[in-house]
Amino acid sequence: MILISTSNYEELSQKAAEEVISRINQNPSLNLGLATGSTPTGLYQKLIRDHKQNQTSYKEVNTFNLDEYIGISKKDRNSYHYFMCEHLFEHIDIPLDQTHIPDGTAKNLDEECMRYEQFIVEHGGIDLQILGIGQNGHIGFNEPGTPFDSRTHIIDLAESTRKANSRFFDSLEDVPKQAITMGIASIMDSKEIFLLVSGASKAKALSRLINGEVNEQFPASILQKHENVTIFVDKEATALL
Ligand code: GLP
Repeated sequence: MILISTSNYEELSQKAAEEVISRINQNPSLNLGLATGSTPTGLYQKLIRDHKQNQTSYKEVNTFNLDEYIGISKKDRNSYHYFMCEHLFEHIDIPLDQTHIPDGTAKNLDEECMRYEQFIVEHGGIDLQILGIGQNGHIGFNEPGTPFDSRTHIIDLAESTRKANSRFFDSLEDVPKQAITMGIASIMDSKEIFLLVSGASKAKALSRLINGEVNEQFPASILQKHENVTIFVDKEATALL
């Protein structure tokens, strides 16, 4: 794992954006895995600014999001579909039919999980996956205890995750109890991974990820076994290293 230390969130976002842009320049039809949450929004802003200033094009890029809440319509402002349109897709030249997110409103959710997993494989797999990390070590929505060999699946969200994400909703009761998420094995199949870790609230998780043992109780620890991971951190996140 390569650690890129930055002094603050702004610099973290900039450094990560430069690397994403360089991957797109090397491969204009990159299969780009995307994440939601607060952490990658700075990166997305930098990508948008670069697209406007330098015309980096996403016309041939395909994107694959990690996860989506179950039971929230795509048009709901709390869906990850909405989030991605608002924070990235509307502002770059990517054709919307090349943006892929699991469908949390599918009638048959098990089938949707299999379809999404298969769909990624049919597209040749993910070249670069962007990841954030939950305070409990979740990646995507793979909560502690998720098997390392899991593929895209339905997950019961941990109460701590629902509480952490309730800041986006009107109340905790409104936060869905389940989500569809790429599995740990699906994420590990990515050829390259960028993990973004920002702020004091993630310091414990970062330290456990880097110094702790590889254990299903801390899902992100599996990244120690991936051959091509770069972790972008800011100063506050490194407080416990
Ligand atoms: C959510 C997402 C994850 C994200 C995590 C951390 O639950 N499903 O993909 O990495 O929370 O979010 P944040 O960056 O807001 O701390």
